[in-house]
Amino acid sequence: MAAAALFLRARHEGRSFAGTAVSIGFVVLSIFTNLYPQVRASRTSCSLTVAKTASAHYTLTVMTVVIAVLLPVVCIYRAGPSWSSATGSPSRTPHRHQQGPTKGKRMSMDDANGRRPRVLFVYYTHTNQAQIVCESMAEVLRARGCEVSKAGIEFTDPHYAKNFSVFPFKHAVFGILPLLWPQVRRKTGRIRIPDEAKTSSYDLICLGSPTWFFRTCMPLRSYLKSDEARTVLAGKPFAAYVVCRRYWSINLKEVRTLGTSQGGEYLDGIRFTYEGGQIRSLLSLLSYFGKGEMRERSLGIKIPPTNLKPDFDDPAHAFANKLADGLGQSQ
Ligand SMILES: Cc1cc2nc3c(=O)[nH]c(=O)nc-3n(C[C@H](O)[C@H](O)[C@H](O)COP(=O)(O)O)c2cc1C
Repeated sequence: MAAAALFLRARHEGRSFAGTAVSIGFVVLSIFTNLYPQVRASRTSCSLTVAKTASAHYTLTVMTVVIAVLLPVVCIYRAGPSWSSATGSPSRTPHRHQQGPTKGKRMSMDDANGRRPRVLFVYYTHTNQAQIVCESMAEVLRARGCEVSKAGIEFTDPHYAKNFSVFPFKHAVFGILPLLWPQVRRKTGRIRIPDEAKTSSYDLICLGSPTWFFRTCMPLRSYLKSDEARTVLAGKPFAAYVVCRRYWSINLKEVRTLGTSQGGEYLDGIRFTYEGGQIRSLLSLLSYFGKGEMRERSLGIKIPPTNLKPDFDDPAHAFANKLADGLGQSQ
């Protein structure tokens, strides 16, 4: 327990978690080894013993099989959300993340040549949501006097390009499933990078990142690990936005880490999540992936609309205005 506390102070969350888990395990073990063969001792009536409280052999076999099958599934499934909460609880409303642009290096409106600040958006999009957010923010930045360039990364990897060359997917689940394991392992794939996302002439870079299996989507990760990204980001401030059904935090953290490791200075981040609870929003997204249009029901269940919420513009504009403030652009 003491070791867990020390690890926590040193910000080694993983080791601290392991220390706490081991402590709890030993506490439970020592209580029940001391009680054995009883599980609940009683002075007045007869105590409960292991033999008396045990289930029948058949029940125990069924429970063992069910746990052996379901536990790994639940652990894998929960791994994403619980890691997410380490950096902030998932929320349905777009939300700022970490420090604001004004806390980072302040950029001047015009440099020595009197030119307008240059902002580059780099994003990957398949169902257009990341692009729509980009357009919305770009509009504000242009109105605030910035020169805006946009670069949509193309996903050309031969393993996945076939599934991602069409929308809707041929099959909603099997269209995306081949990416599950590579995404878990944070693999990169082949991409095409537009010329705009290869030069170092920008004052601010804004990265648009859809979530794929809790993490940054493979095409954007591939870009962020490329030499071209280093050229663009080295010594430059960058911001990021995540578009996703629900899980944004691991993705945003990954973008932040990769951008920083390429020499960029992280300013701020925002997420745009979709409507609905865990099950219904998933059904709605999968239904959209398979049909290419929003429907009222899936598998007989009423589902919410998927994709960006109708009022996503408000936080997108506010975020872009904050970035413009950081660039020294007057209102
Ligand atoms: C392969 C794949 C995996 C996805 N996994 C997740 C996920 O784990 N969590 C989540 O919230 N959304 C997930 N989504 C939903 C996307 O984040 C969402 O559709 C995203 O906004 C798409 O952006 P785009 O329209 O710009 O392509 C996934 C989408 C795809 C295609």
